[in-house]
Amino acid sequence: MTQFIFNEDKGLRVDTCYKSTEGLALFDFAKNHSTFAGKAGEIYYLPSMEGQGQYLLGLGDRDKLDLEALRKASFNLARAAKDNKTATLHLNLNDFELDGFKEESVLEALMEGFWQAEYKFSRKSDLAKDEDDSKGQDEELEIAFLTNLDEAAFHKTEEQIRNLIDGLFLARDLVNQTSNEMYPEVLADKVKDVFQDLPVEVRILDEHEIQDLGMEAFYSVAKGSDRPPRFIIMEYDGGEEGQEKTALVGKGLTYDSGGYCIKSARGMSTMHCDMGGAGTVIGTLLALAKNKVPVNVVAVVAACENLISGSSYKTGDIIGSLSGKTIEVGNTDAEGRLTLADAVYFATDTLKADRLIDLATLTGAVIAALSDEYTGAITNDEAYFEGLQEVAKTEGEKIWLLPNDENLAKKNRDTKVADVLNSTSGGAGTITAGQFVGEFLAREVPWIHLDIAGTAYGDRAKGYVPERATGVLVKSLYRYLSLT
Ligand code: BES
Ligand code: MN
Ligand code: ZN
Repeated sequence: MTQFIFNEDKGLRVDTCYKSTEGLALFDFAKNHSTFAGKAGEIYYLPSMEGQGQYLLGLGDRDKLDLEALRKASFNLARAAKDNKTATLHLNLNDFELDGFKEESVLEALMEGFWQAEYKFSRKSDLAKDEDDSKGQDEELEIAFLTNLDEAAFHKTEEQIRNLIDGLFLARDLVNQTSNEMYPEVLADKVKDVFQDLPVEVRILDEHEIQDLGMEAFYSVAKGSDRPPRFIIMEYDGGEEGQEKTALVGKGLTYDSGGYCIKSARGMSTMHCDMGGAGTVIGTLLALAKNKVPVNVVAVVAACENLISGSSYKTGDIIGSLSGKTIEVGNTDAEGRLTLADAVYFATDTLKADRLIDLATLTGAVIAALSDEYTGAITNDEAYFEGLQEVAKTEGEKIWLLPNDENLAKKNRDTKVADVLNSTSGGAGTITAGQFVGEFLAREVPWIHLDIAGTAYGDRAKGYVPERATGVLVKSLYRYLSLT
């Protein structure tokens, strides 16, 4: 693991420059001998035979520099250090004085980027691993910081960011594991294990309790699999008694084949990612609890698999739900909203949440609309949403609000035989899916629905966001909940 050292003068020096910097010899040299131009996150390495090489880190345009640029910069530095076999880097935080940013925030961003560079998921065996890949994998990198902060503040920042990274990496690990090794019982056991020594009360409902309670919508999706479902409740009361309670509800399909409305081979191949929402809410709660953030948060995951068998639910079925509402199943592949229906009702009724945020890899339509760049959102409280969107921006995570239009909401009720229908036609599938979930709030509490089908999982790395599971919105939700 990358180690941070407080105020020690050791390691290869990292100088910084803006595009506009003048009179810095190393910058002039770099410009003359390479394509280095001082762009944000760009790195130049000048080795030396005596072992006293130096680094130059570009910070781009002075007026455009933000914390996100610093995260990218330190991520790139970690990668460069590894490539160049540099064991220790020396960073002077005075070089990073940014107008309007506290030194703590600068340090946080840099530490985050360095640690992001450690994330790796692979099931390659030692036999198949090519030499390059396995070499130096666990090599330690040291970063010696020179800072004006006192030692206690330095280590506190370090600890807080490490806990946030632990939550983020947990979210990614849970989602990256494929359905043969990550199924509802395994997820439930993992949750128990992770929160064992933390002030988080974990309750797991098994398939019998799920049915006895009347979670028919959830159970209908789950019953086609030989792997039994689990309803996972994680309660963290870090705040005062009586302080508002936020529910985080995450879609937890450990696999989605589509059911009888079966997906194509291509569409199905990454459907172990359909628990991206669960990963994010569990990871967020871990970071909050480890950092003892004074908030009351309950996280809820209805974990199951959507498979085909003699006991599966079928297109045309009319099913009940915990709320009492009946649902016509127009499409067995629109299963996520059925599991969320019961989870959202449980969170606002039984658990008495005062606010609710749900996250789900819910629709392919959100990818058509916003690609893998933006999470799509629906809300019944725009001020509540805007708070989150603002925080997410500073974390480098983009969210776009879609209209919660009443005429579109009506499409969910366009059935002659039940109260609602789980699949609509005529477009706006992301909106109607979100609105369907909103139909199951037991009370009219502030609510944000986040469709992360495009942002939770990717086939290529984007800067410090790795390929496969991204842990999307762990950072933003952690920060947003820390504020409120
Ligand atoms: N899990 C999928 C959505 C999805 C698609 C997630 C791509 C990640 C990547 C969801 O359960 C689903 O199948 N949605 C259907 C809904 C439709 C049947 C109304 C879809 O988007 O096609
Ligand atoms: Mn589906
Ligand atoms: Zn799904």
